[in-house]
Amino acid sequence: MNTTPKSTPIHAPMTQFPVRDGELVVGGVPLTRLAARVGQTPFYAYDRHLLGARVGELRAALPEAIDLHYAVKANPMPALVGHMAELVDGLDVASAGELRVALDAGCPSGDISFAGPGKRDCELEQAVAAGVLLNVESAGELRRLADISARLGWPARVALRVNPDFELKSSGMKMGGGPKPFGIDAEAVPELLAEVGRLGLAFEGFHLFAGSQNLRAEAIVEAQRKSFELALRLADAAPAPVRVLNLGGGFGIPYFPGETRLDLAPIGANLADLAHRAEARMPAATLVIELGRYLVGEAGLYVCRVVERKISRGQVFLVCDGGLHHHLSASGNFGQVIRKNYPATIGNRADAPPTEVATAVGPLCTPLDLLAERMPLPETQVGDLVVIFQSGAYGASASPQAFLGHPPAIEVLV
Ligand SMILES: Cc1ncc(COP(=O)(O)O)c(C=O)c1O
Repeated sequence: MNTTPKSTPIHAPMTQFPVRDGELVVGGVPLTRLAARVGQTPFYAYDRHLLGARVGELRAALPEAIDLHYAVKANPMPALVGHMAELVDGLDVASAGELRVALDAGCPSGDISFAGPGKRDCELEQAVAAGVLLNVESAGELRRLADISARLGWPARVALRVNPDFELKSSGMKMGGGPKPFGIDAEAVPELLAEVGRLGLAFEGFHLFAGSQNLRAEAIVEAQRKSFELALRLADAAPAPVRVLNLGGGFGIPYFPGETRLDLAPIGANLADLAHRAEARMPAATLVIELGRYLVGEAGLYVCRVVERKISRGQVFLVCDGGLHHHLSASGNFGQVIRKNYPATIGNRADAPPTEVATAVGPLCTPLDLLAERMPLPETQVGDLVVIFQSGAYGASASPQAFLGHPPAIEVLV
């Protein structure tokens, strides 16, 4: 059956998981065996070999001078964070909860940074006590931090998160440019830098994070260059030499039909140039990039089981034991304007050709509970395993797992 007209955009090939005897293989284990080992569906499986391989590819493409940080928010599963902590140069956390996971993972506090708006006093206290770098998001936060640091008697390590005067073009989500709740407007930073000095805080540098999920290397290169230039200008007003310049990230992965993988080569060349310029203009600074989904997204699968195969007015529905409550982003309800399918397959029929068009839905009584809409799939039976690729980031922890009281998904690192 020819299910895809020639002009229809298709998903990027998902070849990271091999297929053996018709089954997807995760971490060396065939999927049905893994499902039996986990003891239930639905589950998320993350492949530790793929995580290591991705970091290796990045290290090969980027200059050695660049430190690579993992943004824990993408996937805070403790075992995965522990694995990533061994591979990268630092962890970025966004809450006291993530800070605990990062410290438990054995990451030295000197290699942890804490960014995010609305840090509560108790979170600032925990971060100061731990000795991690605080990426300060507002003048108010800076002053609260100074009070806390003075009261506790431990110096707070501080970088200012700057809301730049430009945007990351063609980005899935923009966190910088224009009015934003994130960071301090670039034009207000010089005055605040003087205050950092007066407050006696330990100034370490700047953090810029323009946006997320970008597949265009030239847009990332442009944002990194502009961030670097802005940091050079701001450094003139700093109370101490810049020791850390975090240029953000935004590296995307292909989720939807027509999207292709990011080309790292121009990004690596640009970062090499910036690192070279930093040697002369900011000699004490380490350049950092922080990545979440790019490091972990492609190494993860979401797996659920078909409970019911149903035909309604000629359309095939695969009703599964998992859905929106475990995987909000694959359902299309985590920031997508127009819903599109994540790449999906039937994990125990992974080399069977598509013979029908089917819609995989979850058990929730809402039309939003869609996992794959009208996708070409092999003929699928009750008990088969529906697999959603590109599920290693913003999956379990970014989903309303308690919704409707179904059991939560288990997460395994294989
Ligand atoms: C400050 C900061 N760092 C890192 C990230 C991770 O982004 P991504 O997972 O797209 O790499 C985000 C995403 O929201 C962020 O806001």
